[in-house]
Amino acid sequence: MPGHPVFAALYDLCQRPAARILDPWRHRVAGGAEGRVLEVGVGTGLNLPFYPMDRVVRLVGLEPDPHMGRRAAARARRLGLPLELVAAPAEEIPFASGSFDTVVATHVFCTVVDPRRALAEVFRVLRPGGMFRFLEHVRASDERAARWQDRLTPVWRRVAAGCHPNRPTAEEIEAAGFLLDELEHFDMPGAGLAKPHIWGVARRPGPTEPGGGQE
Ligand SMILES: C[S@@+](CC[C@H](N)C(=O)[O-])C[C@H]1O[C@@H](n2cnc3c(N)ncnc32)[C@H](O)[C@@H]1O
Repeated sequence: MPGHPVFAALYDLCQRPAARILDPWRHRVAGGAEGRVLEVGVGTGLNLPFYPMDRVVRLVGLEPDPHMGRRAAARARRLGLPLELVAAPAEEIPFASGSFDTVVATHVFCTVVDPRRALAEVFRVLRPGGMFRFLEHVRASDERAARWQDRLTPVWRRVAAGCHPNRPTAEEIEAAGFLLDELEHFDMPGAGLAKPHIWGVARRPGPTEPGGGQE
């Protein structure tokens, strides 16, 4: 996924005004990470300041776009964080099953090419009982709004680097076998077609729970 240096720079620039609203959510998502942590689609590293490094023993960032990844690496250096950057898509995570205690994703599952495959990979690389912490925008629950999202997605994804505003990500997380421990819907001002937002914590079932041990 080659991306473009201008898009990566623009992404950082455009996220600056949103930081006041988004940062508390980033804090909630990344701030609860612990142990061996994988962030998929780490982008330019906007979640990095929020990781509790006293509880994180390993921090890996997966990012297929080298221009975004370069910015994440630079941000990690500025923050003095030992980020291991891996250039790979969420659909093919190059780690063994059960390698992580926490997986984090913010605004990624709207963009991945194959969300089901990517979620199956997140499930696989988490240890049984491990947490998947996420912040995403999803398909509207109002049918009329959802139909508009369907109509406008072909154009939207072209101008917004592959973003699909019409994906039912919470349902897909459950369908991948996760148990949803926390899920909250909220609206973000100025999000346009990309709403509502969700944040949540899903868990790969432990060995004694229904669905535990499967891959
Ligand atoms: C909207 S940006 C979000 C970046 C970052 N997570 C954040 O919250 O600022 C989407 C990110 O997902 C990455 N991405 C796109 N397709 C992906 C895939 N198949 N697997 C993993 N990451 C992907 C993009 O390169 C980009 O960095």
